[in-house]
Amino acid sequence: MNIAIFASGSGSNAENIAKYFQGNPNISVSLIVSNKKDAYVHQRAKNLGVESVSFSKEDFLSTDKVLKCLCTKDIEFIVLAGFLLKIPQNLIDAYPNGIINIHPALLPKYGGKGMYGDNVHKAVVGNREKESGITIHYVNENYDEGAIIFQAKCDVAPTDTYEDVAEKVHTLEYKHFPVVIDKLLEKEAGI
Ligand code: GAR
Repeated sequence: MNIAIFASGSGSNAENIAKYFQGNPNISVSLIVSNKKDAYVHQRAKNLGVESVSFSKEDFLSTDKVLKCLCTKDIEFIVLAGFLLKIPQNLIDAYPNGIINIHPALLPKYGGKGMYGDNVHKAVVGNREKESGITIHYVNENYDEGAIIFQAKCDVAPTDTYEDVAEKVHTLEYKHFPVVIDKLLEKEAGI
C-alpha cells in the first residue's frame, strides 16, 4: 500500500513515519505533498529518497491536479502531518476513510480554524490546562471534526512554557503516530 504524507512545514513527523515504514514490504511512504515550495519537509524527503511535490493553494482548492498526481502514483492512503490547508471535497470524496490527521491537542478542545502548531500550545498554557496530548482522527469536511481513532495524554505542569508542551506533544507524536497508521492499515488490508 502506498501512502502519501501531506505536510506544510518542518516535516519532522513525515520523516519519522517514512523511517518507520522503511523496509516494510506491505506499506510504503511513496510521496510527500506540500502546499509550500520552500518547506523544510522537501529537504527531509530528499534525504530520505522519497519523492516530494508542491501544489499552490489554488491547485488544491480549485483543480484536480492533486488528485490526478495521487492517482498516477497509486496512492491509497493519505496522512496529514502538520498540513495546514483545509482538505478539499474532491479528495475527501476520492478517499472515504482514507485520510487521517494528527492534531497536537486533546480534541474536541483546542481544535478548529487557526488552531495549529504553537497556537495550540500557547492556548493550552494560557488556560492553565493540567494536561494536553495528541488526537489522531479521520478527516472530513470540517477542521478537526472527523471520528477520533486514538488519543494520548501528557501532563502540563504549572511552570511549563508553550515550548515545553510542544516538546511533550512531539514526543507523543513520534511514539504513537506511525504505530497507529501501521495498525489501521494492517487491519484494513487484512495483513
Ligand atoms: C505537529 O505537532 C502536528 O500535530 C501539528 O503541526 C505540527 C507539525 O510538526 N498539526 C497541526 O497543528 C494541525 N492542526 P512537523 O512539521 O515537525 O511534523
